[in-house]
Amino acid sequence: MSDKKVTLTLQGEAPVELDVLHGTLGQDVVDVRTLGAQGLFTYDPGFTSTASCESQITYIDGDEGILLHRGFPIDQLATHSNYLEVCYILLNGEAPTQAQFDDFCTTVTRHTMIHEQITRLFHGFRRDSHPMAVLCGVTGALAAFYHDSLDVNIERHREIAAFRLLSKMPTVAAMCYKYSIGQPFVYPRNDLSYAGNFLNMMFSTPCEEYVVNPVLERAMDRILILHADHEQNASTSTVRTAGSSGANPFACIAAGIASLWGPAHGGANEACLRMLEEISTVEHIPEFVRRAKDKNDSFRLMGFGHRVYKNYDPRATVMRETCHEVLNELGMKDDLLEVAMELEHIALNDPYFIERKLYPNVDFYSGIILKAMGIPSSMFTVIFAMARTVGWIAHWKEMHDDGIKIARPRQLYTGYEAREFSSQLKE
Ligand code: ACO
Repeated sequence: MSDKKVTLTLQGEAPVELDVLHGTLGQDVVDVRTLGAQGLFTYDPGFTSTASCESQITYIDGDEGILLHRGFPIDQLATHSNYLEVCYILLNGEAPTQAQFDDFCTTVTRHTMIHEQITRLFHGFRRDSHPMAVLCGVTGALAAFYHDSLDVNIERHREIAAFRLLSKMPTVAAMCYKYSIGQPFVYPRNDLSYAGNFLNMMFSTPCEEYVVNPVLERAMDRILILHADHEQNASTSTVRTAGSSGANPFACIAAGIASLWGPAHGGANEACLRMLEEISTVEHIPEFVRRAKDKNDSFRLMGFGHRVYKNYDPRATVMRETCHEVLNELGMKDDLLEVAMELEHIALNDPYFIERKLYPNVDFYSGIILKAMGIPSSMFTVIFAMARTVGWIAHWKEMHDDGIKIARPRQLYTGYEAREFSSQLKE
C-alpha cells in the first residue's frame, strides 16, 4: 500500500517520483523498481537498507528485541508450543486445530525414512569430513532420489518436497554424526517426538536402548523452535535467490546450508563454544574483551552482535533459561557457563559494547546446552540447519506462491574500461 512518495532530484534532470510502501509493521520502504528504467541503480552492499522481497512469515524489530512468527511472539511459542506446531504455523500462517496438527504430524512421521541407497552415498565421504560438508552434499543429492517432486511449478510437488525435507532432515543430520564416529545408522522411530526421534537417532546403538530424557527432549525442541526462522537472513536470502531461478527445493536448501555454515552466521555457535573453551577461566576474560575491541586484531566476541538486533536477542533470553534447566537436570556445574555469564556481564557494562549495541545473540548459550547434552561442536551448525529447514521451505514456498522473479542484482563497476587484448603467452 502506498500513500506517500519520495522525489529524487538529479541535477539537471527531471525529478523522479518513487512510491513509499507500508507493511503491517516495521519501516516503510521506497519502491525503487522503476529506477533502472531511468538509468540509475541503488547501491547497498550487504543489503543493509534493502528489502529484497515482501513476506508475511516473520517480523523482527531489532531495536525493541521483538521476533514474531506469523504474529506470534517467539517467547510464547518457545514456552507454550512445540517445534512441529511452530512448523505448521510457519508453513500455513495459522495455528493448527488438533485435527490439522494430527494430520500434519502423521505426514511428517510417514516421510522420515530416506531411500536406502543414500546410506551408500555417505560412504563416499571421508569419516573425518565436517558434518556440515556431508549434510550439504547429501541434501543436494536428495534431488537425485526424489524425482517425483521436482516440478516447482506444480503446487502438489512443492508440498511433497516440503514435507520430505522437513521429515528427512533429522534422519540425514543424525546420519552425518553416526558416520563421523563410525557407528551404524539408526532408523527413525515414528512413536517419538521430532526432537526425541532426533536424540534417539544420535545416541542409541543396536546394542543399547536409549531412553529419551524428557528435559533434554524439551530443550532440543526449544533449540529447534528458536532457530526455526529469522526473516531474510543470509541463508534464507540464499535459498530465495537459488529458488528464484526455478531450481529444485533440495538444491535450494543445500545452498542455504552452505550459506549457514559461515562463522558470521550459523557457524557462530560452534565458534562461540571454541572461544569459551579458549578463554577457559574467568581471569582470562579481560584479555579477550581487550582483543575484541582492538581494531588491529581480527578477533570478535562470538555470540555477540547481530545485524538486526540492537537489543538483547529475544531468543537468547529463552536459551539462557534452558541452559540453566539442562545443567540442573544433568547435575552439571559447567565452567564454560560460568565464563559465559561473566563475559556477558563484563561486555554488557563496557562502553565499547554499549555504544555499538552489541548484545548476546541466540548462539551465545546454545553451544553450552548442546555440549551438555553430549553433542560435539561440529554438529551444532548441523542442528541449526535442521531447525532452519522449515523457515527456508516456508520462504521458498511463499516465493513460489507469490510468483517468482529471478534475483539478478546489478553492480557498481569499478574495473578497467574497454582495452585492447594482446596475448603475452609464448606462441
Ligand atoms: N565483537 C567485537 N566487536 C564487534 C562484534 C563482536 N562480536 N560485532 C560487531 N562488532 C563491532 C564492529 O567491529 C564494528 O565496530 P566499528 O563500528 O568500530 O567499526 C561495529 O561493532 C558494527 O559491526 P559490523 O560488523 O558492522 O556489524 P554487522 O551488522 O555487519 O555484523 C555480525 C553483524 C556479523 C553478527 C557481527 O556482530 C559479528 O561478527 N558477530 C560475531 C559472530 C556471531 O555471533 N554471529 C552470529 C549472528 S546470529 C546468527 O546468525 C544466528
